[in-house]
Amino acid sequence: MDIVPLRPDFGVEIRGVTLARIAADDALYNAVRAAFEEHSVLVFRGQDTDNDVQLAFTRRFGEPEIVPVGTSGMGGHFITLTNFGKDGKVVAPDHRYALRNKANQLWHTDSSFKTTPALASILSARVVPEHGGGTEFVSTRLAFESFPAALQQRLENSFAWHNYAHSKGKIAKDLASPAERDAFPPVCWRMVWRNPVNGRKALYLASHACGVEGMAEQAGLAFIDELTDLSTKQGTSYEHAWKPGDVVMWDNRATMHRGRPWPGTEPRLMVRTTVSASAADGLETMRPPKQQAAE
Ligand SMILES: [Fe+2]
Repeated sequence: MDIVPLRPDFGVEIRGVTLARIAADDALYNAVRAAFEEHSVLVFRGQDTDNDVQLAFTRRFGEPEIVPVGTSGMGGHFITLTNFGKDGKVVAPDHRYALRNKANQLWHTDSSFKTTPALASILSARVVPEHGGGTEFVSTRLAFESFPAALQQRLENSFAWHNYAHSKGKIAKDLASPAERDAFPPVCWRMVWRNPVNGRKALYLASHACGVEGMAEQAGLAFIDELTDLSTKQGTSYEHAWKPGDVVMWDNRATMHRGRPWPGTEPRLMVRTTVSASAADGLETMRPPKQQAAE
């Protein structure tokens, strides 16, 4: 197994192994897990991935998320991101699938709006468009480390509210369905996630963030926008250009990502599985003190 940097500061390509072998071999898993903790984004190319292999790989890292009712793929472990319908035809630009793809193009962290947020996402390319459609990543760990000490300290004592309907509402008012609104009430998280393995801290932010505890609504939103801009400065990202068979895994505690646009006439099909964060991943340190006291 070889580990090849994608950038000097974060992200690596893992070569010479398949997801199936990693899932079946403790030593390989431990090496990949260490790379995940250290480098935040892992790229695997030329994988012959089906849903069974992807799920077995996902399970090595923790509990796979169940896709909630009201969402595509509900009740199962697989979220299908696509722009074509059951008839195989590409959907119109105002179709829910197309609008969801647009929401996905905002900088975000997967599942920050859930009562158990995500440790990792694993995305595999099944059908890729000819032009565009990449996925772009930034390291919120490196962003946090670049902030002045006073801002770091402020963030360590700050808590943000995350709401699924908020990010979807930026694209279309009713894009979050009533069932989804019920399934995902707003949740509050510390704005800094400390990795318990290496002690490094990362800004925890997303397009789902709709307010900052103790700040007036507009001031909180402006602070979130400012932090997003600081974390996504030009030249700090890695954009993955997908080929069929590629799999990318990322640490949702230490990165933000966004989908990039592509011509709406070209089909795209990606399958995502997600690992829920656990106490071992530092989840218990993320809850606001009030919430901890209530439990
Ligand atoms: Fe995402």
